Amino acid sequence: MSFKQEYEKKKMSFKDAVKLVQNGDNVYMAGSSNLSVPLADELYNRKDELKDISVLSSLVSNEIKLLGTDCDFKYTSTFLGGVERAAQKNGRLIDNMCYQLRNNSKMIQNSFNPSVLFFMAAPMDDEGYFNLSLASGDIDSLIDKARLAVVHVNDKLPYICTNENRVHISQVHAICEQSMTVLTLPSGVPSELDKKVASYIVERIPNGACLQIGIGGIANAVGFSLVNHKHLGIYTEMYTESMFYLTKKGAVDNSCKKMHTGVSVAGFLLGSQEMYDFADHNPAILTRPLIYTNDPYLVAQHDNFVSVNACLQVDMTGQVCSEAIGKAQFSGTGGQVDFVRGAQMSKGGMSFIAMHSTAEKKDGSRISKIVMSHPEGSIITTGRTDVQYIVTEYGIADLQNKSRMQRAKAMIAIAHPDFRDELTYQAKKDGYL
Ligand code: COA
Repeated sequence: MSFKQEYEKKKMSFKDAVKLVQNGDNVYMAGSSNLSVPLADELYNRKDELKDISVLSSLVSNEIKLLGTDCDFKYTSTFLGGVERAAQKNGRLIDNMCYQLRNNSKMIQNSFNPSVLFFMAAPMDDEGYFNLSLASGDIDSLIDKARLAVVHVNDKLPYICTNENRVHISQVHAICEQSMTVLTLPSGVPSELDKKVASYIVERIPNGACLQIGIGGIANAVGFSLVNHKHLGIYTEMYTESMFYLTKKGAVDNSCKKMHTGVSVAGFLLGSQEMYDFADHNPAILTRPLIYTNDPYLVAQHDNFVSVNACLQVDMTGQVCSEAIGKAQFSGTGGQVDFVRGAQMSKGGMSFIAMHSTAEKKDGSRISKIVMSHPEGSIITTGRTDVQYIVTEYGIADLQNKSRMQRAKAMIAIAHPDFRDELTYQAKKDGYL
């Protein structure tokens, strides 16, 4: 049978494909830009007949009915996207997977053990492969153990160059087709405050550095501010809009990288349609599985590796909370720790974690994001002994290998002036100064 004949044989409607789901199935849906909304919604349509269904996904930013409070399928997210966060606020019970992103495929296989895979992919090539495009979700390493693998073929997804992050037609059981606009994440224009924070980081980054830039406004502001740098390289979890901008402007050429010279390497891509068009069939942008991109030992192979991530709150000892506000999960651990560690192991490498010094509450009052202690039950993303630089609009605190008292002093120096007296008072009271 030719690949085309096999394709026709396996082709069916979304409804018929989801009819193959059985009671007790664990359904892993690739998330972010590779989430198939029609498959998710057909699964919701069977909510009253299917029993004991667990769903796992990530960074969901499309409205899906499964996230309604009228659906009682167990739902777990590996990293909350905006729509999952809103659903959680709305009362939908959502569990959160706690792990380092480099272990993504192992975690999904060993802890979730998916019997069903739903994912979107670019059209099949002449050799019978579906390219997993922007966000593979590690489907390629999970597919052989799943009872049912359903691919939603979307001809709007770009073809991303890779010999991995693809699956063969012989590995899938059902093929559904629908052309759909691809999820984008337009980057906002950096504020003056973002630019101020970014300026302290940018002045320390040498030409020829290799970059990882995380998700969020400040991290992206750092990226955009590097436009006058030369010979930058990319080895990252997420390929961001600012990386696309730096490449277009000639600041990124990957010429100084010893591994993958001349090529940007990413675990997934999320940005504008222009970025996706640029990445389509572009041999200078390569995706690799997260177990590869996020491996701290591989990160460390790049000299002058610079990791830039954002956070929500830091305490006086440098414990970083990036994924939750108090007990409420906001996003996920992602690869923050993988890159914080890898960057500091790299020759000449540096890790920056950045934030504004204050946040505005709903009532318009301001709170310090530097606190004496995190509230009870807070979730720590990066531990104090891993942290190197914390950055706010008031400068940089170097916490690497520093004592408790040295940390308190450095953190107060980058707190908002309105809160420094109170923090100093508390620090003295608690024996930190
Ligand atoms: N207390 C209360 N609210 C706070 C707060 C605090 N300490 N800090 C921030 N907030 C609020 C902000 O005001 C903002 O509210 P709004 O949505 O109503 O405007 C919201 O929380 C988000 O904060 P912001 O700083 O704008 O977030 P961001 O979009 O720039 O993303 C992170 C920053 C930290 C959430 C994001 O980087 C993340 O999820 N990181 C997780 C792990 C990671 O870094 N992975 C690495 C690689 S991808």
